[in-house]
Order: sequence, then C-alpha cells, then structure tokens
Amino acid sequence: MIKDEELLNRVDKSKLPRHVAIIMDGNGRWASYRGLLRSAGHSAGVKTLKKILTVAVNLKLEALTVYAFSTENWKRPHAEVDFLLHLFSEYLEKEKREMHEKNVRINFLGRWEEFSTGIQNQIRDATSLMKNNTGVKFSIAANYGGQDEILRAAQKLADDVAKGKISPAQITSELFESALDTCELPPVDLLIRTSGDLRISNFLLWQAAYAELWFTNTTWPEFSPEEFVDALIDFSKRDRRFGGLSS
Ligand code: IPE
Ligand code: IPE
Ligand code: MG
Repeated sequence: MIKDEELLNRVDKSKLPRHVAIIMDGNGRWASYRGLLRSAGHSAGVKTLKKILTVAVNLKLEALTVYAFSTENWKRPHAEVDFLLHLFSEYLEKEKREMHEKNVRINFLGRWEEFSTGIQNQIRDATSLMKNNTGVKFSIAANYGGQDEILRAAQKLADDVAKGKISPAQITSELFESALDTCELPPVDLLIRTSGDLRISNFLLWQAAYAELWFTNTTWPEFSPEEFVDALIDFSKRDRRFGGLSS
C-alpha cells in the first residue's frame, strides 16, 4: 500500500474528470470465488465504496455517481434484494455523519420513493443534512434505470405541454436535462465498470453520451484506490473530440 498523499500526487489535478460514474459490479463473483455467500460480496463492496469516496473527497472531484441498485435488480431472489436494501439502510445510517463532516453533498437518483417508508425517510434525512455542503456531489443510483429516468422526464414534459405551460418546440436538450434526476450534475466524463463485463446495463444512458469508458476485470470488492487513480490517469491522456477534431 502506498501512502495516500503519494497516490493523489500521481494525478494531474488540472485534467481530472468533472463527473465520474461507477458501475460497482462483481460482488457476487468475488464471493463465489471464495466459497462465500453473495451477501458477503455485497458487504465487502460497501467497504470499497467508502475507500473510493474518500479518494474522490481528497482529490476534490466535482461529482461521483455510483450504481447501487438497478430497476432490473428486483429480478433477483427476494432474500438478496432484502439483503441489499438492508445494507443500503445500514450504510446510510453508519456513514452519513462522516460524509457530512467531509462536506459531501449526497443525492439519490432513481425511483427511490418505491422503497420502504423507513428507507425513504433515511434518504430524505441524509439529503437534507448535506444539502448545503459544497464538496463532492455524491449520487447513489438506487432503483435506477436510464430508460426509466428518460421516460419519467418525457412524461413530465408531456404533462407540461398538455397543461399549456410549454410548447413542444421549447423542449431543448437543456430543458430535457433539467427534467432528469441528474439535473444538478455535469455530464459523465468517465464511466468505470468493474468485474469484466463490457456493457452499460441501463446506467446514465443520456448523461454518458460522450463519457470515456474504462473497464477492469477486478471485482468491485477488490477495486482499490490505486486502480481508481489509474483510471483517472488514463482518462487524463484521452483525446476527447466530441465529434469534432483534435485540438
Ligand atoms: C453488483 O454486484 C451489485 C449489484 C448489482 C447490486 P453483483 O451482485 O451484480 O455481482 P455479480 O455481477 O453477480 O458478480
Ligand atoms: C449493474 O450490474 C447494476 C449495479 C451495479 C447496481 P448488474 O449485475 O445488475 O448488471 P448485468 O445484469 O450484469 O447487466
Ligand atoms: Mg453483476
């Protein structure tokens, strides 16, 4: 393990992504490789999240968004879904004070109002506790699906048209973005997925339009601050053209 400061100094701070999004995948595989229950993998994954958020805080990243539970994850066995929701609740309870002390501004993406009243209250409490913080914008996508988010935004704008508040021609990409769950966030610059699968799995479909993609075979519980910094360094060397030509 190298020292935190030395690690952070490896990154050119002027070339940091504004918004990093992470598909935290591979908890189940991490556990099964070790003959453990999938739940043990999810618990180990929470520890990784804590470490990666700390790096984001220390580097003063503008925004970090993590995929915690997708709208498709309800297809999993009831016991696993229950465990994940329990872990989510425990994580918020245990970590919110420390996050607040680190000036983190927490936010939640997705249809979290479909969770139990207890979890909804925790989400509201954590959001309101940190609402005036000015540090890392840390978003947790929970019961989130990119297609679902786009549909909800379309429905909201269609409703505004039906009520005569706006005309169809007024629906610009800026207005559309203001109706998304990520309305307070910049576009995703760097999208990381752990554990080897090369897909987006319905994450931030609109926001990742020009994201740089970074995949690793490392499972999420094993993903380290060192590897996170490697991804940031790799990002700093990418030539982003946005459809234009190299500058
Ligand atoms: C990611 O790990 C966590 C969630 C999707 C909630 P997985 O549980 O998907 O782990 P694998 O992909 O089965 O290894
Ligand atoms: C994506 O991982 C969702 C989260 C990390 C929360 P999945 O494990 O659900 O994705 P698929 O099924 O491999 O596409
Ligand atoms: Mg998975």
